[in-house]
Amino acid sequence: MPSSQSERLSDTIIAPSMLASDFSCLGEEIRTVVQAGADWIHLDVMDGHFVPNITFGPDVIAAMRPHTDRIFDTHLMIEPCDPYLEAFAKAGSDIITVHAEATSHLDRSLQAIRNLGKKAGVSINPATPENVLEYVLDRVDLILVMSVNPGFGGQKFIPAVVEKIARIKSLIGARPIDIEVDGGVTAETAPLVAAAGANVLVAGSAIFKGGSADAYRTNINAIRSASEGALRSAA
Ligand code: DX5
Ligand code: ZN
Repeated sequence: MPSSQSERLSDTIIAPSMLASDFSCLGEEIRTVVQAGADWIHLDVMDGHFVPNITFGPDVIAAMRPHTDRIFDTHLMIEPCDPYLEAFAKAGSDIITVHAEATSHLDRSLQAIRNLGKKAGVSINPATPENVLEYVLDRVDLILVMSVNPGFGGQKFIPAVVEKIARIKSLIGARPIDIEVDGGVTAETAPLVAAAGANVLVAGSAIFKGGSADAYRTNINAIRSASEGALRSAA
């Protein structure tokens, strides 16, 4: 059973990306966004090497950890990743996702995450075909489909990933694997990815815009109801 099942508050898991929050008060931002209806907290770790931007590391995640008991969904955009997996596990991550493009030995990286007692995720960039996932399906709890090129928030959704999500959904069959989408997710794009099979939606700018608790709640509700509307009409 994927990590999401026990925590799931609705059919769609909403995972706000803290990348779009106010970094000067991360603890407060987490408490506010959880209060506003966030299911998971998405943490974007960037190294200025695999992606052209630098964010935060395990110490900052450890500092955020006491502010909520929601799932910490750590998205590693770092290369290499293996030397840092233990630090991100100790910092309080519940799910650790590595990029298929950032590790030479994907199977080994995924096993290492599970051996640390964490849920293992694999992410693929927009231009990476889904067949890289084929031989690791029994090693993963989550597949993170990038719908922008990783590195920055606020980019435009790449529509070609919608078909890719549908192909991944059929590839995983009955396996208990979450499909997460990250990048340019808004109330307009959420229905497309939900209908294709994604059940975890990451959103940064679309959730943190407005900068207040009320705005976060309105923004989360808009994405959630757009996604669930698409699922209802598909049913
Ligand atoms: C991009 C990050 C995303 C980013 C999404 O590399 O992985 O999580 O924060 O931001 P929006 O929702 O603004 O596209
Ligand atoms: Zn991310």
